[in-house]
Amino acid sequence: MKVFVTGGSGYIGSVCVEMLINEGHEVVVFDNLERGHCEALHPDAKFVKGDLLCKEDIFNALEENPVDVVMHFAAYALVGESMAQPELYFRNNVVGGANLAEAMVRAGIKKIVFSSTCATYGQPDTDEITEDTIQCPTNPYGESKLMFEKMLLWYEKLHDIKPVFLRYFNACGASDRYGEDHEPESHIIPNVLAVALGKKSAVSVFGYDYPTPDGTCVRDYIHILDLAQAHLLAATKDVTGPFNLGTGTGISVKQIVDACIRVTGKDIPYEMCGRRPGDPAKLIANANKAKTILGWVPKYSDVDSIVESAWKWHQQNPDGYE
Ligand SMILES: NC(=O)c1ccc[n+]([C@@H]2O[C@H](COP(=O)([O-])OP(=O)(O)OC[C@H]3O[C@@H](n4cnc5c(N)ncnc54)[C@H](O)[C@@H]3O)[C@@H](O)[C@H]2O)c1
Repeated sequence: MKVFVTGGSGYIGSVCVEMLINEGHEVVVFDNLERGHCEALHPDAKFVKGDLLCKEDIFNALEENPVDVVMHFAAYALVGESMAQPELYFRNNVVGGANLAEAMVRAGIKKIVFSSTCATYGQPDTDEITEDTIQCPTNPYGESKLMFEKMLLWYEKLHDIKPVFLRYFNACGASDRYGEDHEPESHIIPNVLAVALGKKSAVSVFGYDYPTPDGTCVRDYIHILDLAQAHLLAATKDVTGPFNLGTGTGISVKQIVDACIRVTGKDIPYEMCGRRPGDPAKLIANANKAKTILGWVPKYSDVDSIVESAWKWHQQNPDGYE
């Protein structure tokens, strides 16, 4: 396949590019590098520096690089930032997405695999989220992702573009080459490992009185190598529509801290803080559809393997990509 990867210098995009190249596919990365890293650009991928908000950039990039499929990772993805500055999210994730869809129509590209999120579901009143669970986002980030899903459904009807929405739960872990380096970092595992590395004195645990077994939030953690595998399957199979990507197993924040202590052998102090607004108690995927229809089998997503891979990468890159 020839694959056009937006956001290919970011955390998940870079690992997906690495897997595509390892499997013999040809890759064009399109990124403005605003939130990605030059060091995470795979040397065997063609790189086009451009911004989705600039129509000329994305129109030219797709016209000059005929591909079979687009994998669309480029977006802003910080929930807190989206609550403070919603306009950034509607502009980048929705207007940027609209420019991409228009460019695909002009270039005659018929398939897109879109990085969607469990944040499109909001705080559902169910123990296990299926693709049919009502989508009711609780922040502009989730809303912007849902808006682009809906936009793509119209492009499917009107322009025969086949969209796949991969709704990731909590992406985590690292490949041997690429890992997680966001600024600011809002995800739990790199923040806990920063304490193990001596870069922070303690990790903040937000909320200890949730109706969960140990009182901390429960999430479904999925290794980015398993996410990358799902992208390859979604791109090669004749499928459309939403697929949840998670393990179906809930892990609490406290269990993540314990796993980090176990794997690193370090003392990791944590402080219990108040709840963050909008954090649901529990988000767990039912990913049976991805397993049965895509044939997806997560291989790396037990909690110790996730933390081991992340720890290895953070030890090798204590200051991230800087
Ligand atoms: N990280 C997670 O846990 C998670 C969970 C669910 C969904 N997602 C989705 O997965 C995708 C990738 O997440 P990530 O953690 O790798 O993010 P990231 O911030 O590491 O990577 C995003 C990349 O997109 C690029 N980009 C952003 N806006 C752009 C624009 N207008 N034009 C060109 N490039 C642009 C950035 O420079 C960056 O390289 C996002 O769409 C996110 O919503 C992530």
